[in-house]
Amino acid sequence: MQLIHGIAELRATLAAWRRAGERIALVPTMGNLHAGHIRLVERARELAPRTIASVFVNPMQFGPSEDFAAYPRTLDADRTRLAAAQLDVLFAPAVTEVYPRGLDGMTQVAVPHITDTLCGQSRPGHFTGVTTVVAKLFNMVQPDIALFGEKDWQQLQVIRRMADDLDMPIDIVGVPTVREADGLAMSSRNGYLSAAERALAPTLYAVLSAAAERLRAGERNFAAVETAAAETLDEAGLRPDYVQVRRADDLAAPGASDRHLRILAAAWLGRARLIDNCPVELP
Ligand code: PAJ
Repeated sequence: MQLIHGIAELRATLAAWRRAGERIALVPTMGNLHAGHIRLVERARELAPRTIASVFVNPMQFGPSEDFAAYPRTLDADRTRLAAAQLDVLFAPAVTEVYPRGLDGMTQVAVPHITDTLCGQSRPGHFTGVTTVVAKLFNMVQPDIALFGEKDWQQLQVIRRMADDLDMPIDIVGVPTVREADGLAMSSRNGYLSAAERALAPTLYAVLSAAAERLRAGERNFAAVETAAAETLDEAGLRPDYVQVRRADDLAAPGASDRHLRILAAAWLGRARLIDNCPVELP
């Protein structure tokens, strides 16, 4: 595996692959890799002969009071894991390589509406930071395929919309959420949890799964399901930010004829903001 820090060297390496006609799959990450990230790399290897992952903690997607400074940076361990997963290239640029003129005045790629809700409502500007850096990574790498986790369901749909709206010739592939044995979705932010909080954390997925089951069983009062789930989280000691039943693709409020739904939630536990979601396919 090659470790590359600079955009010029990256382009030179990828140009040789492209000349050979090899398809390229990209897995963007912020590092501190866990088995969920590695699943994306494994899926990438099934889909393309050349694979590249990026590790870049993107300052543009963190709010001023969020955890940019505290976000775990573990490049040596990430490098070892990615090499073991037989990745071809690890691209780990410095902030000055990605934003040489800083963030002030930086061109932005913003996807409206679908980013106003759920995590976008609680984290103003977050998704514009995500779509801007992902658009930049797409231009740096020019991949044929890019893979994203369903754990960040809203992010996946926002990126699909960006690629579609801007005619980016890239297949956006979603990969199902990888979980711990007790159901907790793997996340770099789980490292912020104390032992007691870690023991409570699986409640988020348990509550979402139970709510999804109620909907599959025929319950159609979405607001009642959302409120009950939020109350259960609250009683368990989590601080729910939102619990929402939405249409899976555009995240709009579902109508009576919609069948492909998703129930999504965010909740605070100590200093960690946990997110998760479940599919709800109605008959
Ligand atoms: P990060 O949180 O590092 O996640 C990188 C990718 O791994 C995302 O596509 C995310 O959905 C996926 N992922 C994380 N946990 C997962 C799990 N338990 N199962 C499956 N996939 C999982 O998401 C970001 O970074 C950034 O916003 C990024 C897209 C890299 C832009 O900066």
